[in-house]
This record gives sequence, C-alpha cells and structure tokens, in this order.
Amino acid sequence: MFGIDPFKRTAAVLVATAAAAATALLGAPTAVAAPQPIVGGTTTTTTAYPFMMQITDASQNQFCGGTLVSATKVVTAAHCMVGETTSSVRVVGGRTYLNGTNGTVSRVSKIWINPDYTDATNGDDVAVLTLSTSMPYTTASYVTSSQTGVYAAGTTARIIGWGTTSENGSSSNQLRTATVPIVSDSSCRSSYGSDFVATDMVCAGYTSGGVDTCQGDSGGPLLIGGVLAGITSWGEGCAEAGYPGVYTRLTTFSGLVATQVNS
Ligand code: ARG
Repeated sequence: MFGIDPFKRTAAVLVATAAAAATALLGAPTAVAAPQPIVGGTTTTTTAYPFMMQITDASQNQFCGGTLVSATKVVTAAHCMVGETTSSVRVVGGRTYLNGTNGTVSRVSKIWINPDYTDATNGDDVAVLTLSTSMPYTTASYVTSSQTGVYAAGTTARIIGWGTTSENGSSSNQLRTATVPIVSDSSCRSSYGSDFVATDMVCAGYTSGGVDTCQGDSGGPLLIGGVLAGITSWGEGCAEAGYPGVYTRLTTFSGLVATQVNS
C-alpha cells in the first residue's frame, strides 16, 4: 500500500544510535514539503504545559517528549526507548527551550517498555519511566480504560512538542502546540491499511494536512479535554494531506500504565 514508511527508517536509526536527536532527522524523504510547525502550531511554554517533559540523552539533547503523570513517572512512547538504558536517558522538566539550562533534570531509575512492543506500526507503543528525582511540576491525568468515548471523530485534541516544524525541517528551539481533530478509525484505515491497528492507535489531523506532529515530537502527549489520551507515535511524513498523525490509543493501555505508575 504505501510501503516502508519514513517512521520505520527513523526507528531503525533510533535503534542504531542512542543519540537519536540529530539522526532522527534523516528519516523522512517523501512527497511534498509540508507547510508549518509542530507542523502548523504556535509557540508555548512549559509554564502553560508543566507536565511536558523533554526526553534527552545524557548530554541533555532532546530526542522525544514525555508526559509527567506523577512526581516520578513519565509516560512516553516505547519506540523512543528502544536501545536506551537507565544511564543513557535523562528527563528534563520546566524547560521551554531546547537550548535552555533551567528546569529540573532527572536520571531514570527504571524504563518499562510495553513487553508486547515490536514496532510502532504494530501498536503497543507505550513506555513508562521512573525518575530518580521528583519533578516539582503539575502532573497530567490520563484516561481510564473505560473512557473509550473520548476518541469520537471530530473531537479536538491538542499536540505539544519540540519536533521538526516541517517534514524535512529542524526541531523547534521553543516548545510548540497545535490542535487537530480526531479522525475516525475507518478513515485512518483508508490512509494506512493494515499498519493502522485500531485497538492500539488513534489518528488525528486535517484531511488537507498542514498541522501535525513530526520527528522529535514522539512520546509527547495528545490531550483531549486536557487529559492525556494519546502518545505521539508515527505517520507517513508529516502534515501530508490524507495522512493524519498516528497516536497510541491510551485507553487500551491505561491499566498497564497505572500498574507502572502506582508501583
Ligand atoms: N516517529 C516520530 C518521532 O519519533 C513521530 C512522527 C509523528 N509523525 C506524524 N506524521 N504525526 O518523533
């Protein structure tokens, strides 16, 4: 159908090198250049979104996002943690700018990767990090397993991250955010065929494209009504017409996540 997507090449690079930040940009040669930031958003701050965490390497180079759900627990994507160890990763809170030095830096004492995870296009793309240092920031709540109604098509969702502001572009030094409508499962299946696993994924974006998460936004939140309901996972390019962003359907995994968060 659409063959090996850019994400898979990105994922391979993430596996090959723990220093994903620069190399994650190598993965996206496709169709038309997409218009704007996260793609199509506006600048924001970690004051506005205090639960928004940078996932970085040991040198504090950001390569993914994460969401603080308790003082010492961060929800992110499994694909962000492939090849990482508790010594290779840091979590940075309260830092709006990638080149900042402020905020709180924590080491990670445990990385839980969903044991069923193989590849983002197979689903199960969720991980929970346990921090060595408590984060003094307001946490986000996350959906419960029964809240499956939050993904009704057309519902407005918020995406947040430092990722590239166009398909082959560079990361944003300042945190960005945008809103995108939830796309129906049948429509997303039309876009992505069997790579879209409706039990594990939910899509969001405009039919005409233009607004989306992109490389480096992975692991960050998709909020619905201010509640963590998805995790940035994958997509064909970024912000392309007919190819919405794909997010982990968190209701499917909230029981697993809660076990980690409460452990
Ligand atoms: N896999 C990317 C990452 O690691 C996120 C891609 C999101 N793509 C999209 N079109 N929404 O940062």
